[in-house]
Amino acid sequence: MRIIEQFEHSDEHKLFLKKESLVRPEYFFRPYGVHGMLHAKRVLLIAMILAKVDGLTERERNILALCSIYHDIGRKHDGYCTKHGRYSYIKAKKLGLLDGYSKEDLAIAEFIIEEHCIDDDRAKVKLAAYQGADTAAMGKLYNYFCDCDSLDRVRLGWLYKLDESYLRTVAARKIVPLTHEIYNNWDDIYARLREAYCEIAK
Ligand SMILES: [Fe+2]
Ligand SMILES: [Fe+2]
Repeated sequence: MRIIEQFEHSDEHKLFLKKESLVRPEYFFRPYGVHGMLHAKRVLLIAMILAKVDGLTERERNILALCSIYHDIGRKHDGYCTKHGRYSYIKAKKLGLLDGYSKEDLAIAEFIIEEHCIDDDRAKVKLAAYQGADTAAMGKLYNYFCDCDSLDRVRLGWLYKLDESYLRTVAARKIVPLTHEIYNNWDDIYARLREAYCEIAK
């Protein structure tokens, strides 16, 4: 829990609280299912913890936060699917959830959200062919985001369980035990993070 203690009262903690409040049941086909609101909130928390551990910039963490909360809203079922990333981005745009972000940041978020559900090799080919955007930032944040989404596989049964050898960043490998704790003690950890927010607001 040391990482969580260091996380408390940080800018990443504040961003987690700001963005988790945007996760609404009406966006999800099964808000209380395995790809529903709690998954989005845990991915967001993991993303903010990784951002803190690796000292990501404010811009980088804002993009990761955006991807975390909306990456699965286009899902129409809980099975294997390589299309819901595209649907999620289109849905977020239609609902006005992407308003206020810069064109450059949205290009990166669009790539990450769309490609998070295809395999890495195909994503790398697409990235190499990408024109007119900050592909270095795209590749870096794609790796971070996919690790965050993968780390929350601890919620799934043994058949789809997390395979640590697929993690792309060193920081993600370091926090595997923490992600188990986050999943197993979600109510307590969430309450603690919310409580700390009340202290910040005082
Ligand atoms: Fe997904
Ligand atoms: Fe996901």
